[in-house]
Amino acid sequence: MSNIDWANLSFSYIKTEYNVRSYFKDGQWSDLEETTSEQITMHMAATGIHYGQQSFEGLKAFKGKDGKVRIFRMEENAKRLQSSADGILMQAVPTELFTKAVVRAVELNLKFVPPYESGAALYIRPVLFGSGAKVGVSPADEFTFVVFVTPVGPYFKEGFKPTKQMISRQFDRAAPQGTGNLKVGGNYAASMKAGQMAHDNGYSSVLYLDSKEKKYIDEAGPANFFAIKGDKYITPLSNSILPSITNMSLIQLAEDMGLTIERRKVALEELATFDEVGACGTAAVISPIGQIDDIDEDKSYVFGDPKVAGEVSTKLYNKLRAIQYGDEADTHNWVTVL
Ligand code: PLP
Ligand code: COI
Repeated sequence: MSNIDWANLSFSYIKTEYNVRSYFKDGQWSDLEETTSEQITMHMAATGIHYGQQSFEGLKAFKGKDGKVRIFRMEENAKRLQSSADGILMQAVPTELFTKAVVRAVELNLKFVPPYESGAALYIRPVLFGSGAKVGVSPADEFTFVVFVTPVGPYFKEGFKPTKQMISRQFDRAAPQGTGNLKVGGNYAASMKAGQMAHDNGYSSVLYLDSKEKKYIDEAGPANFFAIKGDKYITPLSNSILPSITNMSLIQLAEDMGLTIERRKVALEELATFDEVGACGTAAVISPIGQIDDIDEDKSYVFGDPKVAGEVSTKLYNKLRAIQYGDEADTHNWVTVL
């Protein structure tokens, strides 16, 4: 598209041409519908809008030097959407329907996949919600599944430059036995006030501690947290964080690079011992963290040169991107080439 400034895209919505939809009704999913409408019509008593019975996913498609378009690990997003559906009693979208809808949404909008040189990507946003009417708190019997796409740049405007994050005990994103491990809208609603406060104070995001004891690191706003200490890749194990597909991939790449993986509770005090830390996710990719301010304790943690991404994070970032754009062999079979 001639009027899109590909190299300077931010993470925001740009209208594309088509989206695809399927409706669950009378016990079955409909054939995929292809539409140019950006609007959804639904019953005013839909459970999705009253009781937050909804879940979304986020994945990306990349254009390679060879002009081919690659979608990253979409089967994993299908599985996670099924797990979210299970967790809040929605009708799960079968993997085959999910992947077909994702591929179709990309195919119908090929001209919106950013060019290789721009370093941008096509963000794919599947969303599933209860569209059947209920007034009491109970699951809907009708569901709507939509996949739209939009070209995006980095989620954190700094891209692959370190940002500052903020710890505050004032806010919880998810309860210890709640829905933090599911990608449901309620978690994001719960994070908005904290996120706004972080932005207003010059931070890219809130770094959440575990809600029960406030002793361990949970995750970083819309991304998982990882740390590098010597030859170790360390990332929190917690029931209230989202199982990140990017983190899962980085763990594999770190292992391939000969690092030792530690997936365990990460105590807050350990921050002082880490060489590099970062946030990772589909939207964030890797966003290195240069400094973390614990505003309640009036304490700051600084990592290496807080203006420069660490060496291991840089290697991981380059490796992941190389696989996504098709510059390096996809030895783990993560990529679907259209
Ligand atoms: N944590 C939260 C709360 C997120 O919203 C996301 C984004 O999807 C992630 C982590 C990263 O997950 P993924 O790497 O699968 O995008
Ligand atoms: C993603 O990384 O895909 C996300 O969903 C993060 C955010 C936009 C909520």
